[in-house]
Amino acid sequence: MKVCVVGTGYVGLTTGVSLAFLGHEVTCVDLDQAKVDMLRGGKCPIYEPGMEDLLAEAASNLTFTTSYSEAVPGADVVFVAVQTPSAADGSPDLRYLSSAAESVAHALNHDFTVVVNKSTVPIGSGNWVDAILRESFATREDRPAGVEFAVASNPEFLREGNAIADTLYPDRIVIGSDNPRSLEVLNRLYRPIINQTFTPPTFLPRPEDATAVPLVSTDLASAELIKYAANAFLALKISYANEIGQLAAKVGADITEVVRGMGLDQRIGSRFLQPGVGWGGSCFGKDTKALVATAAEYNLEMPIVRAAREVNTRQRAVAVERLQDELRILKGRKIGLLGLAFKPNTDDLRDAASLDIAKSLIARGARVKLHDPVATERFKAEQPELAPYLASTIDEVFADCDAVVLVTEWAQYLELDWSKFVGLMRTPILLDGRHVLDPDRMRRLGYRYVAVSG
Ligand code: UDX
Ligand code: UDX
Repeated sequence: MKVCVVGTGYVGLTTGVSLAFLGHEVTCVDLDQAKVDMLRGGKCPIYEPGMEDLLAEAASNLTFTTSYSEAVPGADVVFVAVQTPSAADGSPDLRYLSSAAESVAHALNHDFTVVVNKSTVPIGSGNWVDAILRESFATREDRPAGVEFAVASNPEFLREGNAIADTLYPDRIVIGSDNPRSLEVLNRLYRPIINQTFTPPTFLPRPEDATAVPLVSTDLASAELIKYAANAFLALKISYANEIGQLAAKVGADITEVVRGMGLDQRIGSRFLQPGVGWGGSCFGKDTKALVATAAEYNLEMPIVRAAREVNTRQRAVAVERLQDELRILKGRKIGLLGLAFKPNTDDLRDAASLDIAKSLIARGARVKLHDPVATERFKAEQPELAPYLASTIDEVFADCDAVVLVTEWAQYLELDWSKFVGLMRTPILLDGRHVLDPDRMRRLGYRYVAVSG
C-alpha cells in the first residue's frame, strides 16, 4: 500500500521506516530540510537503537521529502505525527497539527485516503482534525472530484529506545474510526504485523513467544481514550511503587524486595513497578496532564491521576532531600549526576528528572557535574544554561566529589568498575536514583550507599 508520514520525530520515523520494511511504499515528509537531508543519506536524526539498520533494510521502499505535494497524492494512508508541545497554560499546542492537516488537505487526490492522527492530542481531536481537513479541502480551487477521506486514530505504544521492537512485535494494535472503510484499510496495512508473517529484520529476531497480535478495532473516541488510559495507568503504577517506597524507607523495609513480591502476583505484574526518581519523557507527563484537563471540561475530577503526578514531582525533590540528609549542607558541595536522558537508550531529555535535580542542587549552591553517555550534544543545544556543568569523562564526575547520583540506569553505568572510582571521591556517598545497584556490593567497595526509597 502507499503510505505518507508527516513528521519524522520518534513516532513518525519509526512508523514510516517500519511500514516500509514490511513492504509498503512510504514517503516521509518533514518541513526540516536538514533532517530530510540526513535521512536521505541513511543517517538517523534521533538516537534509537537499530533505526539506521532498519533504514538501510527498508531503503528501497522509502522516500524522504519536504514537499507535501510529493508525499500525499496517491497515499492510501497518511499518518500525521508532528509534535504537540505543551503551551504555556499546559494545554497542548495544536498549531503544528492544524497546519499539517491543512497541508494534507491541499494535496489529497486519491479516491479514498485514511488520515491517521498519530500525534498525542486531547480526546476529541480526531473530529477536530476531520473538521480542518474538510474545511481546507472545501476551499481548494483545484479540488479534484471523487476524492474521499476519513480520519482514524491509531495510538502508538512504542517506548523510546525500544521503538522498533514495540512496533514490529507489539502487545496489541488499536485502531479507531467512525468510518468502517478506514478500519478495513488499516486492518490491511497492519496484516503483516497482526499475523506476524514478515521476515524479521536481521538484527531483531522475532521473540520466541510471539503470536498473532490482537487487533482492537473500535470507534474514534475509544481508541483515543485507550492511549491516555494506558499511559496514565503505567505512570500511576510507577508512582504507586514510589509512594510505597517512601513508606518502606520509614518502616525499614526494602522496596526492591517489596515490589518483587508484589510483581510476582500475575494480576499485578512486575513491569513498570521499578521505584526511583520517577517517570519523565514526552508522554507520561503530558498525557496525565491532558487527561486531567479533558476530564475537567466535563466537570470530572481525576484524583488518582492527579495523585500519580504529585507523587512523581515529589520524587525528584526527595532525591535532593536524601543528599541533604547525608551531606547536611549542600552549598559548595560537588555532586555528580550520572545520566541525563529521561531513561536509558535514548538521547531524549524531555521532562527528564536529571534537569529538576540539577537545577535544584544548583539553586542550593552545590557545584554539579553532569554526565551522559549519549545525550550530551542534545543537552548542550537544549539546556545551554546547564551546559557549563557538563563533565566530559566519568573520572571528572567522581574526582573530589561529595556525592554521586545515579539518575539514569544506562548499561555503561551498571557495568562501571565501581571499585576504581570510590577512591577518587572526597566522601563516597552514592545515591541510587533507580534502585538498580547492589547495595551490599557497593558498601563492600566502600561507598555510603543510599537509595531514593527504602
Ligand atoms: C510524538 C508525538 O508527535 C507527540 O504528540 C507525542 O506526545 C510524542 O511522540 P515526536 O515523534 O517525538 O513526538 O515528535 P518530534 O520529535 O517533535 O517530531 C515531530 C517532527 O515533525 C519534527 O521532525 C518536525 O520537524 C516535523 N514537523 C512538524 C513537520 O514536518 N511539519 C510540521 O508542520 C510540524
Ligand atoms: C511511554 C509508554 O511506555 C509508551 O507505551 C507510550 O506510548 C509512550 O510513552 P516512553 O516515554 O518512551 O514510553 O518510556 P517508558 O519506557 O514508558 O518510560 C517512561 C518513564 O518511566 C521513564 O522516565 C522511565 O525511567 C520511568 N520508569 C519506567 C520508571 O521509573 N519505572 C519503571 O518501572 C518503568
